[in-house]
Amino acid sequence: MPSSLGRSQALYDSLTGAAYDYAVERPALARVAGRLLWSADIAVFYRPMDAIAEAPDGAVILDVPCGGGVALRRLGRGQRVRYLAVDYSPGMLERTRRVASELGLTGVEYVQADVGALPFDDASVDLCVSSAGLHCFPDPARAVAEIARCLRPGGRLVGSMAVCGTSARHDAQMALFRRTGALGPGGTQSDLEAWVRGAGLSDLQTERSGALVRFEARK
Ligand SMILES: C[S@@+](CC[C@H](N)C(=O)[O-])C[C@H]1O[C@@H](n2cnc3c(N)ncnc32)[C@H](O)[C@@H]1O
Repeated sequence: MPSSLGRSQALYDSLTGAAYDYAVERPALARVAGRLLWSADIAVFYRPMDAIAEAPDGAVILDVPCGGGVALRRLGRGQRVRYLAVDYSPGMLERTRRVASELGLTGVEYVQADVGALPFDDASVDLCVSSAGLHCFPDPARAVAEIARCLRPGGRLVGSMAVCGTSARHDAQMALFRRTGALGPGGTQSDLEAWVRGAGLSDLQTERSGALVRFEARK
């Protein structure tokens, strides 16, 4: 694991990760937090996860970063998919494992990996869900390129991120979080569009609410 990841991992293995996770697992609380922190309708964060529930049997789903397993909650018990839950934080992976066990989900694989070097074959994934990850990753352009490498032709990337450049207050807040190691360099909505196009993905759709952006694209 790259040493640059150590600080952020320690943070997410600690109380901050637990507090974040507590909020996102409670949509009513997340709705308030989304408004206060990002001036956003939190639906922008949750909606991309619906793609998981719609995935057909046999699909390979990559959830990176899986964090504490919030997206996994969209997986139905009867869905016969290969679900790859990826995060570099062992603590967050352990939370995801607990969610899967509570929900009686089998067929979930837990993979500790850096999104910049995913241990999966080219063109092996049908759907990648990346919720609230791109503003945390140390190199978001590389992350999108790596996800795109793993997608099959026609495969989809869906997700959300907090973007810079929407207001001075949000930018200051992000700079503060960045200093704690919780966030990576992040980027603006235009940066997001450049990462997606640079990775060879097309049909990009975005929806912004406050400082949160929902995105989807296809390989
Ligand atoms: C804000 S959380 C989002 C987690 C989850 N998707 C959610 O929406 O609740 C960010 C996650 O990114 C993970 N992370 C940060 N950098 C990473 C990297 N380079 N590779 C893999 N995971 C990373 C952290 O461990 C943390 O679990």
